[in-house]
Amino acid sequence: MTSSASSTRAASPNGHGHAPTPPLPPTTLKQENAALAAGIPSVLSNSETYSLLALTVACATVLGNTVRRDDGAPLTASLALSGIAFAATYAMIRWLGPSFVRAGIKGADLNKVQRRTLPECMGAVCAVVYLLAIIVFIPMPFYKDIVAATSGGGNRDVVLPEIVPAAHVEQGRLLHRFPHSKLASFLSAIISLQSITLLGIGDDLFDIRWRHKFVIPAFAAIPLLVVYFVDFGVTSVVVPTPLQPYLGELVELGPLYYLYMTAVAIFSPNSINILAGINGIEVAQSVVVAALLVFNDALYLLAGPYPHPATDSHLFSLYFLLPFLGVSLALLVHNWFPARVFVGDTYCYFAGMVFVVVSILGHFSKTLVLLLLPQIANFIYSAPQIFGLIPCPRHRMPRFHARTGLLEPSVTAWLPDRQPKPPIVWALRLLARLHLLRMTTDPKNPEIIQETTNMTLLNLWLVWRGPLREDRLAIEIVVMQTLVGLFGLFVRHRLALLIFKEDNLGAVGY
Ligand code: UD1
Ligand code: MG
Repeated sequence: MTSSASSTRAASPNGHGHAPTPPLPPTTLKQENAALAAGIPSVLSNSETYSLLALTVACATVLGNTVRRDDGAPLTASLALSGIAFAATYAMIRWLGPSFVRAGIKGADLNKVQRRTLPECMGAVCAVVYLLAIIVFIPMPFYKDIVAATSGGGNRDVVLPEIVPAAHVEQGRLLHRFPHSKLASFLSAIISLQSITLLGIGDDLFDIRWRHKFVIPAFAAIPLLVVYFVDFGVTSVVVPTPLQPYLGELVELGPLYYLYMTAVAIFSPNSINILAGINGIEVAQSVVVAALLVFNDALYLLAGPYPHPATDSHLFSLYFLLPFLGVSLALLVHNWFPARVFVGDTYCYFAGMVFVVVSILGHFSKTLVLLLLPQIANFIYSAPQIFGLIPCPRHRMPRFHARTGLLEPSVTAWLPDRQPKPPIVWALRLLARLHLLRMTTDPKNPEIIQETTNMTLLNLWLVWRGPLREDRLAIEIVVMQTLVGLFGLFVRHRLALLIFKEDNLGAVGY
């Protein structure tokens, strides 16, 4: 949460990197409430109330019916819970928005003429509803196992009274049949997601410094890595066929594999947080990644006449992704242009961690890396600013042009007596020549750099295609993310056959 601080900071000479904008006059509570009343309806309209109620009743009925099924129909139950989670998040964002603003959890919408104050940190509402939904869901995938473990194979009435106490204790009520490791995966996922939510809320409330908050997700990943170590422990990777004569079929990475997973856990949440700054983009990119992961899971579940060996991993992934889609879509409705709420760093961390949880415990972290290619590109492109080689203003989001109402790339301004060092000048000029950056030089002395565009994918997109309206930019980025993701999945399942003997979906390459 940057609250009023964000608008003050953005107005600094480097804030948006262009001519200093005069700071906005401090808004009074009265003005703020008026803006709230104008922009953020806190009550649901009648049609919204009836639709949400109808959805909740329908989903609750489906959920109730799953209990009658022999196996508890966990996938159907998860879908029904996701519907309820959507309705609950939608309503709670409306009800809680004004309270968040009154509590000071708010931020200014910088890319608008009026710069309205909106509730920040709404990702916390999503995360809480999501965690409650997942906690309610815990018994459902274990329904069959619970019945088997507590009743001697589903015939509790017949078996239990006949079991003598000693045998009962010895067999631990047949609990040895219960899949404890699966439950451990579940619980570790919940601990990780709860931890990241807590840390995210801390960041939104206290605006933690970048170099500190970067490592936050590593702590939240510890429960996952412990369960991975105890339960699965595979730390080898398959070697591409052409290299197998030299390296063998598998290369054992040992502790390096845990380092790699920690890196994925740090990267995924942070990469979503830095592909941000225009309405809707944080949630929309997360929805795309989640939808592509669901599509990938469906490929495994529908592959072949027999259940795929990885069926359980992909079901686990679906149980965590479907409610995530439910709460995220409810947030997207409110965060899409023109935004009525902000998602906060809580949402970015939480979303990134959901992907880490499903991909590490589902054993498909490399697929996640493929689906995060735009985020990886944004991170690599951003690295010179993030690591301080080039000044990094507090906000690098695109710059709003009040007269046209369109977004342009925001820039870093270079004073004549504070020019970048020669290697940086060389790199900046090279990037400018490759159209990977826009540079303005002094018309009287081209050696003097005046401005360079901030190094984010959003600004680069505007260098290529701008100026654009805020929602247009968001749509184009989301379409690009979808196409790149689909290509990533194609590479994963088809092109991989060119360099690996077989794809784990079942296809064989020659
Ligand atoms: C990251 C980016 C920063 C970007 C910011 C936008 C890096 C290193 N950091 O910082 O460049 O400007 O996200 O979220 O790349 N806001 C809007 N409109 C939006 C979304 C956000 O005006 O659609 C503003 C609001 O004032 C909001 C604030 O951005 O309060 C949130 O910024 P925050 O998420 O705290 O920034 P960071 O994640 O630290
Ligand atoms: Mg952020």
